[in-house]
Amino acid sequence: MSKKRHEELKKIISEHDYNYHMLDRPTISDQEYDLLFEELLRLELREPDLDKSDSPSQRVGAAPLVFFEKVSHRRPMLSLSNSYSPVDIVSFDERVKKILNSTDEIEYFAEPKFDGLSIELIYENGILTRALTRGDGSLGEDVTQNVKTIKSIPLKLKTPSPPRLLEVRGEILIFKKDFEKLNSQQQENGQQTFANPRNAAAGTIRQLDSKIASSRPLKFFAYAIGETEGLVFEKQDQLGEYFSNVGIPTVSLLHPGLVRVCKNASEAVSYYHFIETERPRLPFDIDGIVIKANSFRLQDDLGLVARSPRWATAAKFKPQQAETTIENIVVQVGRTGALTPVAIMSPVKVGGVTITNATLHNQEEIDRKDVRIGDSVIVQRAGDVIPEIVQVILQKRPKSTQPFVIPSHCPSCLTAVQKLEGEVITRCTNPLCQAILKESLKHFVSRRAMNLDKVGDRLIESLVDKKLVTKFSDLYRLSKQDLLTLDRQGDKSAENVIKSIHSSKKTSLARFIFALGIRFVGEQTAKHLADHFGTIENFLDATEESLLLVPEIGNKVAQAILAWISNPKLANEVRALISLGLEIAAPQRAAVGELAGKSFLITGTLEVKRDAAKDFIEKNGGKILGSVSSKLNYLVVGEDPGSKVEKAESLGVKIISWEELIKMTK
Ligand code: IVH
Repeated sequence: MSKKRHEELKKIISEHDYNYHMLDRPTISDQEYDLLFEELLRLELREPDLDKSDSPSQRVGAAPLVFFEKVSHRRPMLSLSNSYSPVDIVSFDERVKKILNSTDEIEYFAEPKFDGLSIELIYENGILTRALTRGDGSLGEDVTQNVKTIKSIPLKLKTPSPPRLLEVRGEILIFKKDFEKLNSQQQENGQQTFANPRNAAAGTIRQLDSKIASSRPLKFFAYAIGETEGLVFEKQDQLGEYFSNVGIPTVSLLHPGLVRVCKNASEAVSYYHFIETERPRLPFDIDGIVIKANSFRLQDDLGLVARSPRWATAAKFKPQQAETTIENIVVQVGRTGALTPVAIMSPVKVGGVTITNATLHNQEEIDRKDVRIGDSVIVQRAGDVIPEIVQVILQKRPKSTQPFVIPSHCPSCLTAVQKLEGEVITRCTNPLCQAILKESLKHFVSRRAMNLDKVGDRLIESLVDKKLVTKFSDLYRLSKQDLLTLDRQGDKSAENVIKSIHSSKKTSLARFIFALGIRFVGEQTAKHLADHFGTIENFLDATEESLLLVPEIGNKVAQAILAWISNPKLANEVRALISLGLEIAAPQRAAVGELAGKSFLITGTLEVKRDAAKDFIEKNGGKILGSVSSKLNYLVVGEDPGSKVEKAESLGVKIISWEELIKMTK
């Protein structure tokens, strides 16, 4: 019975994943989806023998790996010769004809050259069994756990008669819009930002912890096959149709007309120009086009030379670059105290957009490029989006320039800065630094945090400059009179500011924790913390042990939180906020489920993995505690339990088995 339901749930959820992530047309609400997903998890936890190989439960990320296993490709993953001019398409075509000793026109399949990370997906009897990076072309790395988190990649092919073997090759990428969101989240969380979408995609796939991949907006487009068994294709352009039929994402599903069968080289050249004009409008980065002999028979005849096929070539687009001069290098202080050098340039147009600023990231980067004030430089928009200094034109360097060094003292508060061993980032660690305070306040009031929508950056700057605000709680002590002392502050707008401050008082625990701006605690982590601790008091009482029980929290994050909550000034600030009338609603989740309001601790080895058991308890509304105390309701005991049992007995805590716990949820 439960096997049937399990198959049913796998199918329904996969169908919804497909509608949402491939077609962009969800047919149920997020809540309904969550309910189905929870039912699936519950079923799999209860019956560990069910077939999970194609279960959507695999997408949430698995236990972190220690290293990636190296695996041979059945067929080598090749690379392409590059050229930067459409004229080379013509010479490529001439070469092809010469090798084939023919004057007949060759049909080409043309498609965009995606600027991501190439990957091979291996389907055996329709099930995704492995995903490998290109590696050196012969030996790739097994990144299956990470790839399974990409919701648009089917875990099972949508066909009643899957082939014995199908190796799908394609590119993993991050869309431009998602990339900008990701980078601003990284910035807010005090984590390193990525230079471009490709780096972000590649960096994500190289993470050993697949939970990170599951939180990143990765996409996939298929464009080739490796080894197959039980499938025959004659032409490259048939692949796209087959891929769509079995549920594998291709670019033409999203943008029909973006790939093209070209009758000859001159049509391929027109295609190059067509794509070049489309490029700025595409939602993802491309760096050129790829053309391939359309017939697989011809591809075989043409063969390879070294590691490149003779049947395909890439014609790249010239990067959009321009020349300008560096007028100044300023050093900005971020919310976490990080000092970021930024080049201020004479305004210049690159690919239709005027740019004036480019981050120089850190001292290492400045040294590597040897960028100095007064230099002439080449700039481009990295991955079409972010301005980046490519290189200095040394011939044009004025005589008097000096190497730029990040100051030894914070430009805002003049305190000596710090650079930790092994870190590239220089930081101001003065807790009273005005620049850090301003950035922290901007974060605190931001839309996804406390949402003080009438308190903008400019107002924060003046409030801090005028010393009207020196900490979060001061915002809630502001009066209309205070605001009216500021320049350009009228009666009506002062009233609106006060209203906006007032209405932000009703908030959720997750928003509040996020607003505090604790290092590494982004929105998602704040949600997990809120779900886990339930109240702000519990959160302030968190111990290392209890923090490590929270999903996605490892040592580094736990230490950052502990450092924050154990700082009496900061903890008092939270209490001050509450006494000023902040109403922090407990997460709704904790109130639902059969185990709501009850606390649990696990000891000994259970039939299921420890993490899975904790997830199960939490999903059903229960709370996990870090140690045995009189606050504990149930001690769940497995094999070889430790001293906790005795202690629990002495405190009168109920002792139950895993099976009994399961029964409580039925
Ligand atoms: S077909 C050489 N098609 O380009 C084997 N490759 O230098 C044929 N790439 O590693 C590959 N977009 O990561 C092909 N539409 C596309 C592509 C594409 C990007 C990448 C791929 C490969 C590299 C070749």
